[in-house]
Amino acid sequence: MGPPGAGKGTQSERIAETYGIEHVTTGDALRANKEMDISHLDGEHDTPGAYMDAGDLVPDAVVDEIVERALDSADGFVLDGYPRNPDQAVALEGMTDLDVVLVLEVSRETLINRLTGRRLDPETGESYHVEFDMPDDEAVRDRLVQREDDSREAVENRLDVFERETAPVIDRYRDHEGYVEVDGERPPDEVWAAIDSAVASKVEGS
Ligand code: AP5
Repeated sequence: MGPPGAGKGTQSERIAETYGIEHVTTGDALRANKEMDISHLDGEHDTPGAYMDAGDLVPDAVVDEIVERALDSADGFVLDGYPRNPDQAVALEGMTDLDVVLVLEVSRETLINRLTGRRLDPETGESYHVEFDMPDDEAVRDRLVQREDDSREAVENRLDVFERETAPVIDRYRDHEGYVEVDGERPPDEVWAAIDSAVASKVEGS
């Protein structure tokens, strides 16, 4: 768990690879279904994409179903981006138990910088950053795009939504025996080293 841009995607991919488990990410699943018709839910918007582009949460009914299906078919998993509000946390309790609850901590200033500077290669899905990490190949540089919700306005809203909706879920897990906080402000390899040893000790200890 952690705010937008904390490194959930980056690090949970490594967890999935290292431990040979499924990477269940609600953000990617929703991006693959941005245009799905959800008008029957009578929410503010008729597609997941409209919520996402504004930086708002997609309705629980849509997300809970995605997670339930993914967990049903997974033999071990790392959940990335769920639960994101107290109702989703209750829904998850009805689906499975958790061994480890990992929270990445990063300052708001760093998050804004990481997200507004992020660029994606639409052909490979690779992520770059305008200041710290641009591709050498000019053809790749020319085709980079910005995620719709990485605009300054949407990023500010995503961070506010995190504080309002998701921070209370993290508080709820503080007494969980697998709860671990990791400083996500450091370079990715250092963050990974801290995560790997925390996960290994929690799993061995359980
Ligand atoms: P989602 O796709 O989950 O996005 P997010 O939580 O906003 O997070 P990001 O993917 O932007 O960041 P991240 O923490 O994964 O960091 P990353 O590793 O990419 O959700 C998008 C939208 O989908 C939501 O706004 C919502 O609308 C909807 N949604 C998703 N789940 C939902 C749910 N449960 N309920 C309702 N709606 C839901 O890293 C970010 C950048 O920083 C990258 O460029 C990376 O290279 C860089 N970086 C990573 N780590 C480091 C580091 N240590 N140092 C320097 N740079 C780093």
